[in-house]
Amino acid sequence: MRSIHFAFTALLVSIPAASAVSHSFDPLRHSGPASPYFDAPSQDDISDMPAGCVVDQAAYIVRHGSRYPEPGSFSGWKNLFAKFQNASYTATGPLAFIPSWAPPVDDVPHQPLFLSSTGALEAFALGVDLRKRYGFTKGGDNITIWSAAQQRVLDTATFFARGYLAQGNYLAAPSSNRGSIITLPDSVNYTFANSLTPSTGCPLYKTGDTGASSADAFRATYQNATANRLNTFLDGLALNASDIGAMQDLCGFQAEINGDTRFCDVFEDSEWLDYEYAHDLNYYYGSGPGNPFSATVGFPWVKAVSDLFALGPGKTTPGGNITPPALLMGFTHDNNLPPVISALGLWNTSGTPGVYPLSHTAPSPERRFRASLLVAFRGYVALERLACAAPAGPKATHAAGAGAAPAHAPGAASFVRVRVNRAPVVIPGCASGPGASCPLAQFTAYVDTTRARAAGDFVQRCGLQGAANATGEATFFTVAPPDMQELLVGLN
Ligand SMILES: *[C@@H]1O[C@H](CO)[C@@H](O)[C@H](O)[C@H]1NC(C)=O
Ligand SMILES: *[C@@H]1O[C@H](CO)[C@@H](O)[C@H](O)[C@H]1NC(C)=O
Ligand SMILES: *[C@@H]1O[C@H](CO)[C@@H](O)[C@H](O)[C@H]1NC(C)=O
Ligand SMILES: *[C@@H]1O[C@H](CO)[C@@H](O)[C@H](O)[C@H]1NC(C)=O
Ligand SMILES: *[C@@H]1O[C@H](CO)[C@@H](O)[C@H](O)[C@H]1NC(C)=O
Ligand SMILES: *[C@@H]1O[C@H](CO)[C@@H](O)[C@H](O)[C@H]1NC(C)=O
Ligand SMILES: *[C@@H]1O[C@H](CO)[C@@H](O)[C@H](O)[C@H]1NC(C)=O
Repeated sequence: MRSIHFAFTALLVSIPAASAVSHSFDPLRHSGPASPYFDAPSQDDISDMPAGCVVDQAAYIVRHGSRYPEPGSFSGWKNLFAKFQNASYTATGPLAFIPSWAPPVDDVPHQPLFLSSTGALEAFALGVDLRKRYGFTKGGDNITIWSAAQQRVLDTATFFARGYLAQGNYLAAPSSNRGSIITLPDSVNYTFANSLTPSTGCPLYKTGDTGASSADAFRATYQNATANRLNTFLDGLALNASDIGAMQDLCGFQAEINGDTRFCDVFEDSEWLDYEYAHDLNYYYGSGPGNPFSATVGFPWVKAVSDLFALGPGKTTPGGNITPPALLMGFTHDNNLPPVISALGLWNTSGTPGVYPLSHTAPSPERRFRASLLVAFRGYVALERLACAAPAGPKATHAAGAGAAPAHAPGAASFVRVRVNRAPVVIPGCASGPGASCPLAQFTAYVDTTRARAAGDFVQRCGLQGAANATGEATFFTVAPPDMQELLVGLN
């Protein structure tokens, strides 16, 4: 884990971060959903892995990796390019490069919407990291992975599988391949809670979404001032608020697409923090705890994982026809991560009054809910089931012929821990275990009572009482859905 982790970080850090400025502020860590993946810093100050514990089961819900722009933001880039090209002007200082700038898309039919090379690297590196970190899958074993069906999501799942199963994928012998991906219909409304994109299966969810208007109102408080500041470097051309929006997005996107970070150097730290906060508002009120339907939409995944953790690895739920692997991987889109935070009751309470709900005008430095630390490309929410015994001492004995000692002492107790972009996160009111983890039985009760109440019944809350086949349960881990597709992952 260590070596690939560092190697991978080094690869991403070799994107020269804000090179013109000689301080440590890195705009790529404040770019919200346009940030290439980075490990989130620990917000709760707890150890990466408590002594005496091993992970025996884990579940990840992962955003796809870094990608090219959506058509909407791509047209914003093209408009900016036309503006830069179609005028006679002088540009100086941080804008001296704009006459030579062109949008980083040179294969229009195959780039917008799709995964970039950085996205493929992020996915592959996660596969390598989790294989080494958990040691769940012996050489020659099969693994089943779940993915929403849009191409960039499926490609992320595929590159993950290649990293996870470097041995066991054969170009010339695909029938020997060991990776299998169950694809679920992506962003449709007829799968209800039983998908990796339940946000589109809840018709009322969008009525609770005030994220875009809150973010737009916040952007209006700073973008004109930023444009006015930058216009002092231009003679013959005037930037406005929409240009600032596109130019800040281009820092993260160009860094991951082609390594060009010149837009990262254009803005001041406070302008990056404002840009970041607009994203925080967009996700908090759009798909996170500020949307009253968010916990409802995130709960089915949490409940499915909680039930499998209660059973333990290698077991299936009653009525199941799939026994899922110890590592439950699901790949999806950004908007399906904040609902899981809401369903778990994270990042929406604080010892400091006035932090939540997030202020529409005044960012609190105490807030834990930060888009950059959750929905960065390939961001994830993970639950780990830990088996913990007394930590091993500095001395161990071995009797000849006794075989390899087990990884943890028999009778080890089970605990649950959350990680968001690798940083361990404390579950409010349930942190009595090693490393502030939550005892498994308490976690099960927390999910089945407190969080079930906060989420409510999916069918009722979403207004689906009359809908044929409506379901509030995510059963896909254990029951093969009728319209799933299964793909074998090979190097072909
Ligand atoms: C460039 O400016 C001309 C004259 O104002 C205008 O007709 C044309 O549409 C502009 N082109 C682009 C690509 O914006
Ligand atoms: C892995 O699982 C898939 C799907 O169940 C199966 O088709 C394939 O034969 C298995 N491969 C091996 C090597 O067991
Ligand atoms: C799903 O979407 C279609 C098309 O918008 C709509 O006609 C249908 O009523 C929706 N179904 C449910 C259960 O919301
Ligand atoms: C920003 O500037 C534009 C153009 O001058 C103006 O129309 C708009 O009202 C300004 N917005 C705010 C929030 O001041
Ligand atoms: C900014 O300027 C462009 C043309 O350069 C224009 O299309 C756009 O509407 C302007 N945006 C605002 C907010 O005024
Ligand atoms: C988040 O906190 C706000 C303010 O206390 C509350 O209204 C909302 O229900 C909470 N959301 C969740 C998902 O618990
Ligand atoms: C409900 O499920 C049944 C069985 O899978 C299917 O035949 C039917 O078309 C579904 N109804 C709707 C409205 O989707």
